[in-house]
Amino acid sequence: MRIVCVAGARPNYMKVKPVMDALEDRGADVILVHTGQHYDAAMNDVFFAELGIREPDHYLRAGSGSHAAQTAAVMTAFEPLVADLRPHVVVVVGDVNSTMACALVTAKSESLLAHVEAGLRSRDWSMPEEVNRVVTDRVSNCLLASSPDAVANLLAEGHGADQVRLVGNVMVDTLLANLDRALARDTLSGLGLTAGQYGVVTLHRPANVDDPATFAELLIGLDKIAQLCPLVLPAHPRAAPQLRAAGLSPRVTIIPPAGYLDFVALQAGAALVLTDSGGVQEETTILGTPCLTMRDNTERPITITEGTNRLVGRDPAKMLAEAISVLESPPPRRAPALWDGKAAGRIADAILAGSPDRTPTTT
Ligand code: UD1
Ligand code: UDP
Repeated sequence: MRIVCVAGARPNYMKVKPVMDALEDRGADVILVHTGQHYDAAMNDVFFAELGIREPDHYLRAGSGSHAAQTAAVMTAFEPLVADLRPHVVVVVGDVNSTMACALVTAKSESLLAHVEAGLRSRDWSMPEEVNRVVTDRVSNCLLASSPDAVANLLAEGHGADQVRLVGNVMVDTLLANLDRALARDTLSGLGLTAGQYGVVTLHRPANVDDPATFAELLIGLDKIAQLCPLVLPAHPRAAPQLRAAGLSPRVTIIPPAGYLDFVALQAGAALVLTDSGGVQEETTILGTPCLTMRDNTERPITITEGTNRLVGRDPAKMLAEAISVLESPPPRRAPALWDGKAAGRIADAILAGSPDRTPTTT
């Protein structure tokens, strides 16, 4: 079976790697297509090197742009490739623009479409990712869900039970496979940090970093929390200029985006993590590190009900109160079912078993 796997942005790489390996282990002919949405060494190359992902077979060079420009660039480049390769299945992961763009192209081709991480819903339509999730799922044949809430969302939207598989969380496969390597690094000492005595921050959602008033509130909250424990903040390129210009407390150390192994080591050693990332909510759950999510909602509610995550919004007082709470009384480590390091095998089995028709039973 000829299978195209699509990757394009930082959170795709740790999801696509184990899926590619599992498909190849089962004899599939896997073709890796990179859309080029992320391209900097620190947002892209380091993940290929550290995770041992092979060079992409095709590179679409979509680059940055407005949502429409970026989506269109991916679609325009991907369409002739799909027509040429005629894969049996295209596999997309996650919820970035590259995911939705390749899903739309595939839906109008002869190939079947499988979506890894299907069914997550924030119900917040101001998030571009929510649009990407819903559109991608709507046109997918095979919906591979990481949690029971995602399965329930898909069934409620009218997808047939034969389309949906609960397979677990493939990001956890990569996390567990690389944890020992990450912990063996000198990441903490290199930054002058002591395990259990610092916090890690990531911040890149447009709703947080593109709106000056919201961004200013968040920075006040971070400054307050930095008085409790020093913070290290690997800055995403969307937020780096604002962060560096903001005049944060010297107890907040801004560094370039971290490589995967360093970032896992930072999360594992932290007393708390403050984030608006999707994947980081999941990784902290598995690592047992308290996570405060600077959003009003999450598409990953299982990280709250069965993990270490709490929603703290953007109010500095609430952020500080929750930080004090988890520092004094950290939540217990719990792992949701099937977040066991074996999701990729279940995903590959589901894809190779064949995918039903993409038509949901209702609209
Ligand atoms: C994208 C995803 C988001 C995901 C995030 C992961 C969409 C709509 N958003 O957001 O869901 O959480 O990736 O990190 O797909 N840039 C660089 N170098 C790069 C890539 C981007 O400097 O290698 C800069 C460019 O100025 C670009 C901006 O970052 O305009 C935003 O990049 P983009 O991929 O459009 O969105 P992200 O904010 O990265
Ligand atoms: N990550 C990383 N370096 C960083 C920040 C994040 O390696 O400086 C990893 C993190 O461990 C997780 C993934 O990137 O595996 C999450 O991606 P991101 O936060 O960019 O996107 P999201 O999950 O929000 O879509």
